[in-house]
Amino acid sequence: MKRKVTKAIFPVAGLGTRFLPATKSIPKEIMTLVDRPLIQYAIDEARAAGIKEFIFVTSRGKGALEDYFDNAPVLEQELRKKGKTDLLRTLKDTNMESGAIAYIRQHKALGLGHAVWCARRLIANEPFAVIMTDDVIASEKPCLMQMIEAHEETGGCMVAAMEVPKDKASAYGVLDIKEDKGAIVSVKGMVEKPDEGTAPSNLAVIGRYILTPKILQNLSKLKSGAGGEIQLTDAIALELEEGRDVFGYRFSGQRFDCGSKAGFLQATVAFGLGRPELGEELRAYLHNMLSLSEAAE
Ligand code: G1P
Repeated sequence: MKRKVTKAIFPVAGLGTRFLPATKSIPKEIMTLVDRPLIQYAIDEARAAGIKEFIFVTSRGKGALEDYFDNAPVLEQELRKKGKTDLLRTLKDTNMESGAIAYIRQHKALGLGHAVWCARRLIANEPFAVIMTDDVIASEKPCLMQMIEAHEETGGCMVAAMEVPKDKASAYGVLDIKEDKGAIVSVKGMVEKPDEGTAPSNLAVIGRYILTPKILQNLSKLKSGAGGEIQLTDAIALELEEGRDVFGYRFSGQRFDCGSKAGFLQATVAFGLGRPELGEELRAYLHNMLSLSEAAE
């Protein structure tokens, strides 16, 4: 019988330099879209997909993440005293069952592949998911759930995939397509951050992965790849070289690149518009602002 995917790795060791000075003292993953930190979106998606064990690969200065998922007895007591049951309910989403969450340190910034490899002992011999908190995906059915359902049929390794403009492909891992079956794409090669004009397609890897434990062995064999880092893409490509299956999955939903300022702002607006208590006011404000700027042109 196939093992269910119940473990997920969240690589959260990055310095978040693109968001300095904010990230001087707060982890990038605590930055909020409306009122929920990026990490909360990732955790909600993982929970909805049936993940039970959450493994954070952290680094120095990420202590706020541990506090975020801890109970906050003083705050909770205060809210209870004031009868603020709705806020208490909101806080509940941030609590993790004891033992469900683990923090592992990546001691050197050697790349995404190395970060995943740091969690090898906790993964042991099970398939696992990787969720990148920078990629926030708004969708009716959570992206990882879509992928887990598809993966139950395909097996092998699976990466979320999305078409990107040709001139942007060199910012991603890019798939070399063997057979395009619509949502599921069977893959014959993968390149991390291809030089401009050399990408095998414009189907890019987005930060959701379902991987077999073999990937961890592959990672321990790898030398540094693109950007001088140990790349997860290269460990997955090794599976193809050894004749095992890798699939891309064209998820349905809208992906926001919250690793960039423009993407982060777009996500803030989109999630704000989607909130019943904020949407109307924000829409009117944006409308007004845009017509004023059009009139000024
Ligand atoms: C990482 C992966 C890359 C993938 C991207 C998706 O790159 O290495 O293959 O396409 O995430 O967001 P990063 O954005 O961390 O440089």
